[in-house]
Amino acid sequence: MTKSDPPPTTSYTPPPPFSNTTTPLIPIYQGAEAHLYKTTFLTPSTPAALKIRPSKPYRHPILDRRLTRARILQEARCLHKLVKEGVSVPAVLGLDWEFSASPEGNGAGGSWLVMEWVEGPVARVVLERWERHIKTLGRNHGSQSQDVPGDEGEKVRGLMRKIGAAVGSLHKAGVIHGDLTTSNLILRPFSPGASTESRDEDEQVSPSMEGEIVMIDFGLASQSVQDEDRAVDLYVLERAFGSSHPRTEPFFEEVLVGYRESYKGAGPALKRLEDVRMRGRKRSMIG
Ligand SMILES: Nc1ncnc2c1ncn2[C@@H]1O[C@H](COP(=O)(O)OP(=O)(O)O)[C@@H](O)[C@H]1O
Ligand SMILES: [Mg+2]
Repeated sequence: MTKSDPPPTTSYTPPPPFSNTTTPLIPIYQGAEAHLYKTTFLTPSTPAALKIRPSKPYRHPILDRRLTRARILQEARCLHKLVKEGVSVPAVLGLDWEFSASPEGNGAGGSWLVMEWVEGPVARVVLERWERHIKTLGRNHGSQSQDVPGDEGEKVRGLMRKIGAAVGSLHKAGVIHGDLTTSNLILRPFSPGASTESRDEDEQVSPSMEGEIVMIDFGLASQSVQDEDRAVDLYVLERAFGSSHPRTEPFFEEVLVGYRESYKGAGPALKRLEDVRMRGRKRSMIG
């Protein structure tokens, strides 16, 4: 899914607990695998994120049922374990691994998971704003230089360290994320409503990087304490930074600093990362 993809159409009929009109469903995101809605759960003042995995009509029904069920359960198990361990991820509020199409016939069925709503922008949005801001600064000063002013560098370093520490806390708990990108990290502001939309859109203003990193999207997560798995997780994140946020590349080392400080087993995983990088380079040379 790219950010230009249209939001889900409203013709979609949500699964039973969400199909009554008193539970508002605000479309947030539509990807190849999942649809995300903002809604409420149990009480009208409890904001929640509803993740629906629609069944895939082109897949064999039995295989499809098994796959969607396995993925939603895996996601829920990991989230549950992480919440218990005190890692900052949204708590699971409920799920159904197999809902059927509505009697009206539209909506194909599938599985859904409802979790705590995490306030705040994803790291991708914050970093894209920051990169635009740095570009604007450069233009205003009439320079073509790629230089990042010291205070802006410090700010982004702080965010990178927080990201590294979050990944470390995850690995410490024995979970591998499997899809670490800046779209799967939310920066939850310390005080709700701290950043207003209009301010955020202003390229003259450097985006706030205050807050706590909350990791989301555990659909590809697994449980492992192997250095190799941890290193690959970090490598995926490193590649994601390199391709999505080229201007932050000089600061990526700071993610690893935050990671190293976050738990005892970090050292061997970081050592392994060097091997994983080497393999990655070889592979990109070959094909
Ligand atoms: N708990 C949540 N709170 C707030 N927003 C969320 C939550 N979970 C997901 N989102 C938003 O929905 C998007 C897609 O969710 P995600 O779980 O990453 O689905 P996918 O597996 O399709 O990538 C995220 O990038 C984020 O913007
Ligand atoms: Mg995602």
